[in-house]
Parts: sequence; structure tokens; C-alpha cells
Amino acid sequence: MIPRRSLRLLVPCWWITLLLQAADPIPINQEESKVPAYTLPDPLRSTSGEPVRTAAAWSGMRRPEVLELFRNHVYGRTPESLDRSGSILVSDHPQARGGRATRQRIRVPLTRGSDGPAIDLLVYLPNARSGKVPVFLGLNFDGNHTVTLEPDIPLTPGWVPNRPQWGITNHAATEASRGSAAGRWPIDRLLERGYGLATVYCGEIEPDHPEGWRTGLRGAVISPELQAPAADAWGAIGAWAWGLTRALDALETHPRVDGRRVAVIGHSRLGKTALWAGAQDSRFALVISNESGEGGAALARRDFGETLLRINTSFPHWFCSRFKAYNHDIAALPVDQHELIALIAPRPVYVASATEDLWADPKGEFLGALGAEPVYALFGKKGLGTSTPPPSDRPIGDSIGYHNRSGKHDITTYDWERYMDFADRHLGTRGADTH
Ligand code: GCU
Repeated sequence: MIPRRSLRLLVPCWWITLLLQAADPIPINQEESKVPAYTLPDPLRSTSGEPVRTAAAWSGMRRPEVLELFRNHVYGRTPESLDRSGSILVSDHPQARGGRATRQRIRVPLTRGSDGPAIDLLVYLPNARSGKVPVFLGLNFDGNHTVTLEPDIPLTPGWVPNRPQWGITNHAATEASRGSAAGRWPIDRLLERGYGLATVYCGEIEPDHPEGWRTGLRGAVISPELQAPAADAWGAIGAWAWGLTRALDALETHPRVDGRRVAVIGHSRLGKTALWAGAQDSRFALVISNESGEGGAALARRDFGETLLRINTSFPHWFCSRFKAYNHDIAALPVDQHELIALIAPRPVYVASATEDLWADPKGEFLGALGAEPVYALFGKKGLGTSTPPPSDRPIGDSIGYHNRSGKHDITTYDWERYMDFADRHLGTRGADTH
């Protein structure tokens, strides 16, 4: 008999992949020619059938309606009376990163009292700029200590996803994971270009697993015994988005941050979150979705890459429970993701894809951005400027930006440079408060 270990060596990896795919009952299409036809809901027609012809009609009537549809059917409802107590400066390092940055840690409570969840907002501000600066704000996946090699950023104390490559096998952060995501956060380059950076570990708002709500914000504001929340109760993405709003509360009152020039950014699941945060909270001056895919910028009705059924099965905690009702009937969903992007209008929004990231459906992300154009047009704002996806590595667009970077699912320096170019155009980088 062949011992199991040797058998593993005999069976090539791609066989295992094929076997796993065969066992997977959820079909995934990654061929353009097999995308069935679909009809998108019209952002410029109200639920009762009325046409929306002006910016005033959009803002006064249709926008609230679309926002309500996303609350009711997709991300769930952010509770109305969440606590917004003030933040506390925890540490201040005026000469960080070789003197280039002022680095601060700001504690932002998410509930009243000291026991509830709180976020540890890590902020870098460029010392070479005076006055109030524009800031990029984004959640990170694994803890603030992963975005930098600086040894005095504490390891995140709570639950983190297991990452055996960094020695994390029991959901506790390790010293080996310090700086593991630094390549995704070009801090010095941001400082050099006149931007601040603020980041928060998403798991401090709510750990990213189906039971994470119990120890996160959602569990703190609803009874942890509550097993059957309402069909429109918020999911993890809703909770994370609220964390971004709370981080913005803290940035708005910061003497060196221009609260009117804060861009919210996110990659992948955190890109879905950035879009939802930007849609709900119009204080975000600019919104960036990096490869947010299904449930983000990609059209749900376009059957390419990850599907609604797949995402709701793998990540049952991300959206509201009513979203699952559309797993097998997407045509019945009263909205699609182009309307999420439209909720950001007239503020600038950037959607980016990667050529090898078929799971996130680059073309579907492009079409999501394109579908928001009619709403931007009501405000006299130009969108992508073309209805054909551009070649790889060619950024396009005016108030709606887009690029399809060559390569894999990731956020790279190329992506950040394009976001800073876009922010230069829309927010300005002079450093002083120009408003
Ligand atoms: C999975 C998931 C995606 C998500 C991605 C990520 O691939 O299916 O929807 O965007 O994880 O967050 O990295």
C-alpha cells in the first residue's frame, strides 16, 4: 500500500484543483462567450416608474430610494443611534520614518464605555507639508503592524486570520507578520506626494468570520443571544463601513487633516466596504474600489467570475440575510452595483481591476462604473469617456476613473500611483486648506 504522504506527492496539484472543482456544486463561468444576456435596472427611473431627469430629482427622490434598496436587500441597515464619542490620542511620534512623518495612533471607541470594541487608527502625516493635508483612509486585512516594519506598532491583540506563512495558526498575530502587507501600503510615497495615510484593522471592528459579529461591533450593539436578526440587519461589510465613518469622525477633528479631502480606499472585500462607506457617508470626498468584484463594483447580473450564490455561501456574514434570497434569482434583485457607484455622485470615484483577477470580473467592474455615468451626467460630470474597456495599464476617465492593471489580484504601487494622480486632479495636493 502506498502511504498517504507519498500519494500526495504522486498526485499533481492541478489534479487536486480539478477534483475540488468537480466537488464544487456552484458553477463559475470565466468565459466571455458564455455570459448570458441580462437587463440592468435603470438608475434614472424610480421604483414607481417615474423618470429622473435632474440632479435635484436624483438627490431629493431617487438617491434616497436607491440607498434604501441597498440597505434593504444588499448590505443591511446601519443602526441609526450608534455612539459617536470622541477619540483619544494614544501615541504621537513627530519624527517617524526618518523624520518624514508625524505618526499617531488614535483610539476611536465604537460604543459608549471602555469595554466595547474600539479601533486603533494609525495615521501618518507628511512633515514636509504645512497646514491641513488630504488623507487616504483604508481598512487593512491583518492588523496595523502588517502595514509597516516599524517595531513600535503593537501587534493587534484580537483575532486575525490564520496565515501559516507568518506562523499564524491559532488566530493570534505574530512578530513574523510585522510588515507582511507593507508592499500594499506605500507610505513614504504617499507622504512624498503630499498625502497622509490613515488605516485601521477591519478585525477590530468585527473579526472576519461567520461568528465574528459576537465579539465585534454588531454583537456589542445587538444582544449577542439574538440568533435570528432581521432580514435587513447589517452584515460585516456594514459594520466595517461604519468603522470607516468613525475613523472619518476622528480625522475631521484632527488639526492637521483636511476633513473635506479624505479619500476612502479599499482592496477586494475592503473595496466593497469602501464603496458602501462612500455611498452612505457623503463626507468622503473621493472613493476608490480596488478589485472589489462581486458585491463591490462588478455587476451582479453579469454571470462571470464569482456569483452571488458563491459569495453568500463562502461569506454568509458579509451582507444582510435578505441578499441570499437572490442567490438563484438575480434578476429579481431591485438594484445592481452600478447604482451603488451612482450613489457616490457627484463625488469622484475610481474603480480598478487586474487582468488576471477574473474572479472579480474586470469587465463587470468596468461596466459597473459605466452604468453610473448617467447619474454623474445629471451633475454635469464626465465619467469614463468610453463604453469600451481600455487596454491594460491605461488609466481613463474624468470624475469616474478606471484602469485594468496587468497582473494578479492585489493592490500595488502602480494602483496607488494612479489613485494619487486621480486625487491630485480632484482634491489637490497643495497641503494647505484650500477651501
Ligand atoms: C474572496 C472573495 C471575494 C473577495 C476576496 C478578497 O476571493 O470571494 O469576494 O473580494 O476574497 O477580499 O480578497
